Amino acid sequence: MLDRRMAVAKALALQSGAMLREAYAGDKVITHKGRIDLLTNFDLQSEGLLVEGIREAFPDDAVVAEEAHFDSDQAAYWLIDPIDGTTNFAHGLPDFTICIAYMQEEQPQLGVIYNPARGELFSAMRGGGAYRNDRPIKVSQQSELEQSLLSAGYPYNPGTVDFDLFGAWQRIFYRSQGIRHVGCASLTQAWVAAGTLDAYWEEGFRPWDFAAGILLVQEAGGAISRIDGSPDIFREPCSLLASNGLLHDELLELLNSDGSHADGMRQRR
Ligand code: IPD
Ligand code: CA
Repeated sequence: MLDRRMAVAKALALQSGAMLREAYAGDKVITHKGRIDLLTNFDLQSEGLLVEGIREAFPDDAVVAEEAHFDSDQAAYWLIDPIDGTTNFAHGLPDFTICIAYMQEEQPQLGVIYNPARGELFSAMRGGGAYRNDRPIKVSQQSELEQSLLSAGYPYNPGTVDFDLFGAWQRIFYRSQGIRHVGCASLTQAWVAAGTLDAYWEEGFRPWDFAAGILLVQEAGGAISRIDGSPDIFREPCSLLASNGLLHDELLELLNSDGSHADGMRQRR
């Protein structure tokens, strides 16, 4: 059944992707969900297409999607971000994805992340490895921070963050080859899974932004934890350090070296 769900998720991501690839450089209707949190008419169109497609293929499945705020009290449900990286999309930047996960007992079992502008279709099923365009991918083997290219995400509302975002940036920037801000959580994780980036962290984002990505990183051999080192990434405020595994402990130390999150660090050791 998970195989069938994967086939449907990929087909729907490609279908919505074809529409978004045509649309991202053109005119859009843009409104605000928050002060800097945008919504375009294409977020809604993409969500409509994905939700309808899933309901048609699996009428009994529960669906949770970012824009319509469907909810689920089921143990298993689809979790959908119709455009991850809406700000990039709204400005005509190519770094955005369609992001689909299938969740069971609060753990992603299947993840599909499609970046239509670059033609990268990432996919993973629990226990089945991670793939880009159906070819297996692995995290990098980089263990030297100085040789690493990293990425940090910044939430729309800094009030949701429980650690020193910009202090961490300063502590880590010149010890690495740089810190990119991609502006699309799912794509950033997919690039960690593919070994293009070596690690990524963000706090204060939402489950549909990262559920598919954490499965990709795990299935590609990487490590995930909260930024404080503890395991429950979905606990609000959602918090993630995703890495190739080799850099994980050093980054945890640096991310937390201002003394915040001391409890989590102790819990992990
Ligand atoms: C956002 C993007 C961004 C991240 C934000 C997310 P959205 O998702 O993934 O990179 O920094 O925290 O909310 O709103 O474009 O779906
Ligand atoms: Ca979104």
